[in-house]
Amino acid sequence: MNKKLVPLISQSEIAATVQRLARELDRDYQNRFPIVIGVLKGSFIFLADLIRQMQTPICNVELIRLSSYGCSTTSSGEVKMLMGLTEGVINNKDVILVEDIVDTGLSTSKAIEILKADNPSSLKLCALLDKPSRRKVQVEIDYLGIEIPDRFIVGYGIDMDEKYRQLPAIYAIEE
Ligand code: PRP
Ligand code: MN
Ligand code: MG
Repeated sequence: MNKKLVPLISQSEIAATVQRLARELDRDYQNRFPIVIGVLKGSFIFLADLIRQMQTPICNVELIRLSSYGCSTTSSGEVKMLMGLTEGVINNKDVILVEDIVDTGLSTSKAIEILKADNPSSLKLCALLDKPSRRKVQVEIDYLGIEIPDRFIVGYGIDMDEKYRQLPAIYAIEE
């Protein structure tokens, strides 16, 4: 079956959104030296763009890796921690968790549960995209980019079967 890529969010809209989120974080994290944690793999491009737009200094960038979707387009519901943090690194720190998309919420709520066990002094979530129509568990997004409809999307770090992450804009996939 041929897949069609339908443009959903342009490069310039992404850039403006990243800029806005960086300003919101700058406003709230002045003199706090937060740790920014990206969730691999999907958030790597958003994370890189976001931190380069932040003016407030950050004390550390960490990466964790979760995976739930495997090789299908719908979530299996099982979230695995494939790579965690070095012990103690977020203890008593202000943490900003960075996700590309909150869909069912299962990945993010799992990440939050794991990070909270390491006693950060605060933990906030910054997500580029939110697909609220598919939510299975409640997740509070403190810094939200764009709400999107229930379409399967790719690009700007987000994959389908590990492909399309390199696309600079975001597309909906149609059969
Ligand atoms: C995708 C996406 C989010 C998560 C959102 O990651 O990057 O992390 O799914 O879905 P959820 O809210 O339903 O849990 P995926 O598990 O595909 O791994 P990847 O980031 O390595 O592509
Ligand atoms: Mn992901
Ligand atoms: Mg994926």
